[in-house]
Amino acid sequence: MRFVLNGKRTDVPAPPLKRLLDVLREDCGLAGTKEGCGEGGCGACTVLLDGAPVNSCLVPLAHVRGHKVTTIEGLRSRAPGAFAREGGTQCGICTPGVVMAAAALGPR
Ligand code: FES
Repeated sequence: MRFVLNGKRTDVPAPPLKRLLDVLREDCGLAGTKEGCGEGGCGACTVLLDGAPVNSCLVPLAHVRGHKVTTIEGLRSRAPGAFAREGGTQCGICTPGVVMAAAALGPR
């Protein structure tokens, strides 16, 4: 499946219905995206799909074909630094998802 991952064209030979969350962690080696509930309720697995936040545990790989996916590893935003500076972290499971959601809001 071809898509753009963190600004680079990527071709991942994984089943089309495999969860994007698992593709990122298992096939792409990007462990920054975490699994919390695994059913779309917590947001720990949030990534950006064409700039919009999505729960990657609910997105099948086929859905991202030809689109741009951004993970916490590829995020170019001031949000991570702001969270670190202000002590905005908790145990670390949900923090990447919170940062991604905040980054999607933009500089406001
Ligand atoms: Fe909770 Fe995806 S792991 S919304």
